[in-house]
Amino acid sequence: MKSFIDYSTAEKIMKEYGSPVFVYSEKILRERCRELMTAFGGKLQPSYSVKANTNLSLLRIIHQEGLKADSMSPGEIYLLEKAGFKPKEIFYISNNVSPEEMQFAINRGILVSVDSLSQLEQYGQINQGGEVAVRFNPGIGAGHNKKVITGGEKTKFGIQAEFWPEVLVLLEKYNLKLVGVNQHIGSLFLEAGPYVEAAENLLNLVEAHFPGVDFVDFGGGFGVPYKEGESRLDFKELTDLISPVLDNFVKNYDNKKVHFKCEPGRYVVAESCSILGKVTSIKENYSQNYVGTDIGFNVIMRPILYDSYHEIKVLGGGISKTVCDGPVNVVGNICESGDILAHDRDIGSVRIGDIIEIMTAGAYVYSMSSNYNCRLKPAEVLIKEDGSIIKIRKQDSFENLLQNFE
Ligand code: LLP
Repeated sequence: MKSFIDYSTAEKIMKEYGSPVFVYSEKILRERCRELMTAFGGKLQPSYSVKANTNLSLLRIIHQEGLKADSMSPGEIYLLEKAGFKPKEIFYISNNVSPEEMQFAINRGILVSVDSLSQLEQYGQINQGGEVAVRFNPGIGAGHNKKVITGGEKTKFGIQAEFWPEVLVLLEKYNLKLVGVNQHIGSLFLEAGPYVEAAENLLNLVEAHFPGVDFVDFGGGFGVPYKEGESRLDFKELTDLISPVLDNFVKNYDNKKVHFKCEPGRYVVAESCSILGKVTSIKENYSQNYVGTDIGFNVIMRPILYDSYHEIKVLGGGISKTVCDGPVNVVGNICESGDILAHDRDIGSVRIGDIIEIMTAGAYVYSMSSNYNCRLKPAEVLIKEDGSIIKIRKQDSFENLLQNFE
């Protein structure tokens, strides 16, 4: 897996912005956006799922590249607006929200998707005669871990397809116009099959019972490589499989202007970022080698939460005599035994003081980071297309830890 940061750039960045630090590549981010804008023969319009990364500077770039956005909370809507997204470019895919949260979106002219009958009832009560989207559960799920599979029988998301008659009753009761139908089967799959099968299920449902919708949104989940040798979701295969399904649907559907959307989060941002950190200690405990770093699970939760794999590169720079070779456990500085970035991994020779790089860290990393153990969240910097380096978020300071106390 090729890094976009060389040792001297890494050293320069860490000198100026501290350690650990998130480093993004504008070039890679724009490439991914452009790829998505032209993928699928232009038949699936991409909305960036902002939960993957909400850095304002990155959102502005993504908006410039023409992606729309989906959001999961008023806070995400707030940031999208600050980044320049217009209400019509934002879709609020809500899950178990209060009337106030729905009202927040309605007041701004942002379309809301509801994902249960009771939430549809709640929506009808506060926005009678309005427009709405409904999220169904297509009965199929996929993803890298059961915690992120959102379709199928064992998830809280979406309305079970068989409840379509109840949906119709509520739409009529509150005189709601159903403008869109959406789903999301889960996050990080590398095979196109389940996505296409779920799309077919949803389209069959729409064709049979919901005439006149403006759009059908199949969700995100497109996988990227995290491991050396892994390949990304094959867009050509997905296009070849989904195109006839979409064409066939349009042929039989009453609204010929119906369009199709997808909601990639990870695919847009994951590969555009690495975390740089430092090796702070090396030790052996009961025949296990531990490489201690300043990258705890306050910075990157994915390994402790999902057992996720991120490539780790040793960039060098260490001057200590202590060298460790062979399989090691790469660990952070948080007071829990689960604070492990990599188990039993061969990362080559490593010394105290070395700079290490955690790759593919643009999605669900900063956005899931925390101040646990009162650790300060790192800075984020962007390597621009012209090679210049700018700060796009300050590192936390101790004042941030005091901020909300009375
Ligand atoms: N649409 C909806 C309704 C979603 O819930 C999600 C992600 C997406 C789109 C975007 O999925 P993506 O293209 O990024 O896979 N924290 C986990 C991933 C959680 C995904 C949550 N929903 C991780 O680090 O792997």
